[in-house]
Amino acid sequence: MTASLYDRLGGAAGIDRIVDTAIAAHLANPIIGTRFANARDLDRARRMAKEFFAHGASGGTLPYTGKDMAEAHKGMNVTEQEYLAATDDILAALAQHGVDDGTRNDVLGILYSLKGAIIRV
Ligand code: HEM
Repeated sequence: MTASLYDRLGGAAGIDRIVDTAIAAHLANPIIGTRFANARDLDRARRMAKEFFAHGASGGTLPYTGKDMAEAHKGMNVTEQEYLAATDDILAALAQHGVDDGTRNDVLGILYSLKGAIIRV
């Protein structure tokens, strides 16, 4: 039996590290860095992103208490280029933490499914 996505990401500790790496990459990314530098509450976004990847849908046990993706990005006018830049940062963070190819593709599938709720909502 295949382990849950939550376990393949390294559980809560693995997800913490992956999200921290991805957010550091977002801040250093010339395409989206200012979005994150000017975020109203980056600590909250970090905490919510950790919950988002650790909640029931990945096989984790934490509840997700944040906004849905359209609500979280409403009014930001996120572009396709920015969406791709963020997605690439996340995929690179997964690779950096030794997450295998199949699991990275699973995450990519989830991120892609969220595209319409993030771009120009
Ligand atoms: C690729 C998939 C993405 C996921 C899974 C994601 C996930 C999230 C989550 C969970 C939150 C926190 C929601 C809350 O506070 O309740 C958030 C907030 C935020 N996201 Fe995203 N996001 C994505 C793409 C993007 C993109 C492309 C941008 C812009 C370039 C972006 C910019 C932001 C900013 C600036 C905040 C914080 C807003 C604030 O402080 O009010 N996100 N995101």
